[in-house]
Amino acid sequence: MSLADPSAKSDIFAHPFVESDLPGPLSAELLDRQALRESNARTYPRRLPIAIAEASGSFLRDPDGNIFIDFLTGAGVLSLGHNHPELVRAVTAQLNRLTHGLDFPTPAKDAFTEAQLSMLPAGLRDRMKVHFCGPTGGDAVDAAIKLCKIATGRGDVVAFQGGFHGSGHAAMALSGLVRQKQPVVNGVPGVHFFPYSYCARCPLGLVPSTCDTNCAGQLERALRDGNGGVPLPAAVILEMVQGEGGVIPARRAFVRRVRELTRELDIPLIVDEVQTGCGRTGTWFAFERYGIEPDVIVASKALSGIGLPVAIILYDRRLDVWAPGAHIGTFRGNQLAFAAGAEAVRIIRRDDVLGNVHRRGEQIAERLAPLSGNPWVREVRGVGLMWGVELADPRDGGPATEPAYRVQGAALRRGLVIEVGGRADCVVRILPPLNVTADVVETACSILVEAINACCPVAA
Ligand SMILES: Cc1ncc(COP(=O)(O)O)c(C=O)c1O
Repeated sequence: MSLADPSAKSDIFAHPFVESDLPGPLSAELLDRQALRESNARTYPRRLPIAIAEASGSFLRDPDGNIFIDFLTGAGVLSLGHNHPELVRAVTAQLNRLTHGLDFPTPAKDAFTEAQLSMLPAGLRDRMKVHFCGPTGGDAVDAAIKLCKIATGRGDVVAFQGGFHGSGHAAMALSGLVRQKQPVVNGVPGVHFFPYSYCARCPLGLVPSTCDTNCAGQLERALRDGNGGVPLPAAVILEMVQGEGGVIPARRAFVRRVRELTRELDIPLIVDEVQTGCGRTGTWFAFERYGIEPDVIVASKALSGIGLPVAIILYDRRLDVWAPGAHIGTFRGNQLAFAAGAEAVRIIRRDDVLGNVHRRGEQIAERLAPLSGNPWVREVRGVGLMWGVELADPRDGGPATEPAYRVQGAALRRGLVIEVGGRADCVVRILPPLNVTADVVETACSILVEAINACCPVAA
């Protein structure tokens, strides 16, 4: 069976096509109305000035008829692209049965739970329990922290610089983004930040040859030092690849050392797989690539495969000492998401979607490799279908924020929707659907390379 990329279903959703200036007149009208009525905190349409009328597979269409390749995919949510026909069928069937079920057991939830547990490595499958959270990654992060605080009786948490865990009070407190936290007084206390293995800009200022994963060593020394200032924490929370932080895959030695240390000191290790999970890096969860076993896994974004919200934590049974009602929420029983999620797992297995992630990832690595010759490109990095191009000013090495925004705009005008993130927004990011075809990757990479070379001229 070949990959079921529904972009094939219609000719209009097969190639990017941008005819009007952006925003086109109909998009502009909706953007204006949005600006009048919606919050100042809105984000994406500020630098991607389009409205979205409809979408299919790897493509979306604005109301003016422009067609774009969508490599933002709802911030990594749409793992099988927009409106995958089999997921639509599963959701439609469920819609007529039951949509909302609080935390009652239902056949849809049972099938979803079974599917999720079946994707865990054999050693973890029987040890893990599932908690259904309010349907955002941030709420699941909150649940994970509460679980560990209750189980250990401790109150501090270790997080990593550059990390992102969500926008609620607790998740924001665990995230590196100072700009977001600063205006909010009385944030959640007890979070200690340590450096992450971001070797393109070493947080310790070391050159790789003198490193030996000293950032993990710093955490180790602080936690072992009675004068280190950090009480034994309830949890260490870690992303295997910092997504919002700029697509930074953690070094293997770093992750393994953090795991060894936390195990030795009996600190639960939470891996935040909200962005890396559900196949994004080529294994179901990214921690599998590192040969470690976490105590808690946080998953959300791509669980349903079609953008219906659902969030869970999977955790070691020994932590399951919290009381009934310890973490509740009205929207924990989204039956449509459960139906889609179980079907998504079936499709991902049947179509060897993870194999496609590997192959398309290799294709992207190859297609973007020549960018390393551009003096504005500090690093091209990624894993599976999570890629970033970090831009730095060749004159002083500082983050090239404005050029990154210009690249995003130039790519949009050529028909490719991409994200910008990382420290000071200097990383151009792509998150293609996991079932994206080689042709679409080829077109998108050509656009991206062209946009970068146009906005960051080699002669500068
Ligand atoms: C790693 C990670 N954790 C948590 C979150 C928060 O998820 P949500 O926006 O659904 O609350 C995100 C969102 O981008 C994320 O990338």
